[in-house]
Amino acid sequence: MIPAAKMDDLAAAYVEALRKFVADPSEENLARGYELGRRALGGGQALIEWAALHEAAQADLALGPTDGERFSRAGTFFRESLAAFEMTQRGYVEANRWLERLNHQLRDEVTEKQRVAARLEEANRDLESFSYSVAHDLRAPVRRIEGFADMLIDDHRQGMTDEAVATAARIKAAALRMSELIDGLISLARTSRSELTIGTVDLAARARAIIAALRDSSPERTVTVDIAEPLQAKGDARLLGAVLDNLLGNAWKFTGKQPNARIEMGVDRTKTPSVYFVRDNGSGFNPAQAHRLFGVFQRLHTEEAFPGTGIGLATVERIIRRHGGRVWAEGAVGHGATFFFTVEPEPT
Ligand SMILES: Nc1ncnc2c1ncn2[C@@H]1O[C@H](COP(=O)(O)OP(=O)(O)O)[C@@H](O)[C@H]1O
Ligand SMILES: [Mg+2]
Repeated sequence: MIPAAKMDDLAAAYVEALRKFVADPSEENLARGYELGRRALGGGQALIEWAALHEAAQADLALGPTDGERFSRAGTFFRESLAAFEMTQRGYVEANRWLERLNHQLRDEVTEKQRVAARLEEANRDLESFSYSVAHDLRAPVRRIEGFADMLIDDHRQGMTDEAVATAARIKAAALRMSELIDGLISLARTSRSELTIGTVDLAARARAIIAALRDSSPERTVTVDIAEPLQAKGDARLLGAVLDNLLGNAWKFTGKQPNARIEMGVDRTKTPSVYFVRDNGSGFNPAQAHRLFGVFQRLHTEEAFPGTGIGLATVERIIRRHGGRVWAEGAVGHGATFFFTVEPEPT
């Protein structure tokens, strides 16, 4: 709203301009109407009040319908002053239409995205429970293969050649390996099924405990370990523990042939969200194959060089994804590897 004094000025200017235009309907005098209209609008003047002001100005100049030509000029002047209001009004309408269109578009996109996400989640759930039950169903027959291979070796040894015994032993080893893979699949499915319990997790304490257990398991190795302190993260303690189990376990394993093994764990808090990392100076991997790292049963090293099932990083990826974070790796053959992860979504 225009302050009263300013409004009075505006009203006086309007009367003056209107008087001039009525006397001399030139373009220049008409332009004054538009300019005053704009000033009124800029000051927050409402249309209805502007109309009242025009009426008062007409009264001031003692202009009535009986004044013919002069009265109609006053009308022209008023309409000119309204042009500013009109254009703004049109702008509002356009902007509103545009906003509405944008909103519609957004709503469509969002619902489409939600639909796709829901379908994807459903498909994933189906796939997960499928692999869970398949894995369970496979367990029994694989155990029986193992058992029968045992029977051959133990109970029928007499009637068998050495070669036959060796073959039976190979069958047993393959069945054992399959059992391991099945157990891996089941534990992977479990990670995706359990509920998240979010809290503050002391990653450093957890990492120290894991490293202590690894040292116990291979006391012959000397590995330098550097864990940043403090190292906390918001997340599910059990699941983040499993992430560290896998990443530190891998770092430990893939530095197995490195005489000066070194493992480092820390966080880069200058990034948003914070980026945690586990670095080692072990065998590394071919970066061109990095996209395979997190796939189920995908391994970039042979079983002979470094034993394993290829389930660990797939588990890590699922846990991190469930936290809304991201996991990725950098490495080079013979130059170690660094695994990075976040536990929060990226800012949008
Ligand atoms: N720290 C590491 N250094 C080099 N390669 C690694 C490292 N961690 C994982 N990898 C590669 O990723 C593959 C998948 O890892 P993972 O799923 O933990 O399976 P696993 O440990 O059973 O081999 C590994 O077989 C290895 O080729
Ligand atoms: Mg592993």
